[in-house]
Formats: sequence, structure tokens, C-alpha cells
Amino acid sequence: MKAIRVAQFGGPEVLVVQDVPTPEAGPGQVRVKLEAAGINPVETYIRAGTYARLPQLPYTPGTDGAGVVDAVADDVAGVAVGDRVYVAALLARASTGTYAEYVVCDASCVHPLPATMTAGQGAAVGVPYATAWRALFQKARLQPGETVFVHGASGGVGLAAVQIARAHGADVLGSAGTAEGLELIRSEGAHLALNHASEVYLDELLRVTDGRGADIVLEMLANVNLERDLAITAQNGRIVVIGSRGALQFNPRGTMARELTIVGMAYWNTPLADDRQVHAGICAGLEAGTLRPAVGRQFSLGEAPRAHDAVMAPGAHGKIVLLP
Ligand SMILES: NC(=O)c1ccc[n+]([C@@H]2O[C@H](COP(=O)([O-])OP(=O)(O)OC[C@H]3O[C@@H](n4cnc5c(N)ncnc54)[C@H](OP(=O)(O)O)[C@@H]3O)[C@@H](O)[C@H]2O)c1
Repeated sequence: MKAIRVAQFGGPEVLVVQDVPTPEAGPGQVRVKLEAAGINPVETYIRAGTYARLPQLPYTPGTDGAGVVDAVADDVAGVAVGDRVYVAALLARASTGTYAEYVVCDASCVHPLPATMTAGQGAAVGVPYATAWRALFQKARLQPGETVFVHGASGGVGLAAVQIARAHGADVLGSAGTAEGLELIRSEGAHLALNHASEVYLDELLRVTDGRGADIVLEMLANVNLERDLAITAQNGRIVVIGSRGALQFNPRGTMARELTIVGMAYWNTPLADDRQVHAGICAGLEAGTLRPAVGRQFSLGEAPRAHDAVMAPGAHGKIVLLP
């Protein structure tokens, strides 16, 4: 089969297509013939060799994908050859990587993909939807009727959070940096879309919440926004730090008067029982149609270097996927 292999950490050019043996499913595993793979920012940090957790070289990147199950180990129940699935293998004990024509992974990493969804949409589910779900429910304890501000809502995690929060009865505000991103946020369920390229966009958030601020802020770029978030979060509000790409110096006094909680998360810490809960919720939303992954740009396997450049560029409008 064709797969991307990374033989050394470095720039996007280290993502090289190679012919490799098609992997076989071992005990507890399934094999999926992939029609699409999701590109996540973390895969660029790993490829560059700058992330806290690094694979052994050489490796095939990717934890997210979608396709059809084409082999199932004898000891696996509940998954059958021919099932259309999405793959979410971030927490897998074993996975051969989704930037490839086939992936072998633990059977617990595949979940039903409704017939109404494209493979590209399935590949957009894994890390983004699971992260958004855990942030909203397992970290911020979202309740219906609360106000959620998704600070960076036009990308993979942000759009997932907008849809999930909206379906749960929240008032949803989101930010993006381009007209296209703002339009997408609105069409995916945000009651109000704010432009984080503007100087005064957070004034609007305070205006529409009568000065109260948001109960929950999901923060995609904490090194830029965390201090400002303190001023737009309501009494007893919760800020979940999902993304940060640098350091920040700020005055923690801003957390005191309104007794704010700032909590960080990294999905790879998620206990398996919590992960099962997350995917049960996501599958129900996909089936009901309340969750509809938005696919942005699509690239062929050989264009993986361009896809890695694209996921780090500003102007997100949906999930970037590879079509093996
Ligand atoms: N903690 C975890 O477990 C976890 C899991 C998944 C992802 N992440 C991290 O979370 C971040 C988002 O991931 P993603 O997959 O959604 O990435 P993505 O698809 O590339 O989207 C990035 C988002 O950040 C927004 N952004 C750019 N400048 C911003 C600013 N000044 N303020 C607020 N938002 C801004 C972008 O908006 P525009 O392009 O419209 O400006 C876009 O909505 C990344 O840093 C990623 O590494 C963490």
C-alpha cells in the first residue's frame, strides 16, 4: 500500500509517500481501508520533533480517518467487515497511522459513520470532536442555557464545539479571522460571530451578554488571548485552554473577583472510560444530524506537505483532509 513515512523529524518535506507492506490486524485489532484522513495541528508539531510525545522513527502520521473495515481479528466483537467507520486512534495502544491507504488499530478506535456522512466528514471527527466534547462537558461542565464563547471557532475543534454546544442548548458565540470563517461559524450554529482580527471584537461580546461575559470560554490560542479572556468571562466562569503556541505574561488578579477557573487539557490524558463516553455522545450527534463535520481543503496523499503548511496557516474554514 501507499503510506506517508517520516524517517527524520523536520519540515513538511519529510512527509514522503512510500510503498510499504499492507499491515495485518493482530489480536483485538481491525484493519480499515481508508478513504480520508484528518490533518490536525499536533501532527505538525510531532513531525517537527518539538512535541512532548514523539513516536519512534520511521513512522506514519495520523490518528483520524474514515473508510470501510476490511479485516477483523477473531477475538473482536461488535465490528464487522464492511462496516463504514470513522477512526479515532489518538488513544490507541497500537495504530499504524492514518496517512495511508490502510490503517490497523485497536477495535475500540473505530465507530459507526452514518451513511449520510462523507468519508471526509468522518475523517474530521476524531481529535476535533473528541477534544471539543471533553472540553465542554468533562472539563467545563456545560449546562443548557449557559453562554459559550469559542475563541477560535473556524477550525476543526472550534466548529465541533459550536455544533456540540448549540445542540446542548447553549448560547454560542464564536470568533474567526476571515469573512469566510465568520460565515461558516454562523452557518454551523453560532448565534454571534466575532472577528478576532478586529481591535474591539470583545466589546461586542460584553454588549450582547449585558456586561456579564461568557460562562465558558474555549481558548484555541491562549498565549494571545488568555489575559483578555479574564475580562470577558462571567462570575464562576470556566476557561478551557485547548491551544497555546507561546508564552504570556499577565496579572492573575483578573481571576479573583469573579472566581474564574482556568483548566488546561490535552486529549491524550483522557481515561478510556471518559473516551468511551465522549464517542457515545458524538455518535449520537452524528446519527441525529446535530453534528455535521465541515470539510475545508482536501489534498491527495502526495500533497501531505502542503496540507501541513495549510493547517498552520491563518484563515481556517473547516477541516483539512487527505484523500489517500
Ligand atoms: N489540547 C488538546 O487536546 C488539543 C486537541 C486538538 C487541538 N488542539 C490545539 O488547539 C488549537 C486549535 O486546533 P484546530 O484543530 O481547531 O486547529 P485549526 O483547524 O488549524 O484552527 C485554528 C483556529 O485558531 C483560530 N485563531 C487564529 N488566530 C486566533 C486568535 N488570535 N484568537 C483566537 N483564535 C485564533 C483560527 O481562526 P482563523 O484562521 O479564522 O483566524 C482557527 O479557528 C491548535 O493549537 C491545536 O494544536 C489541542
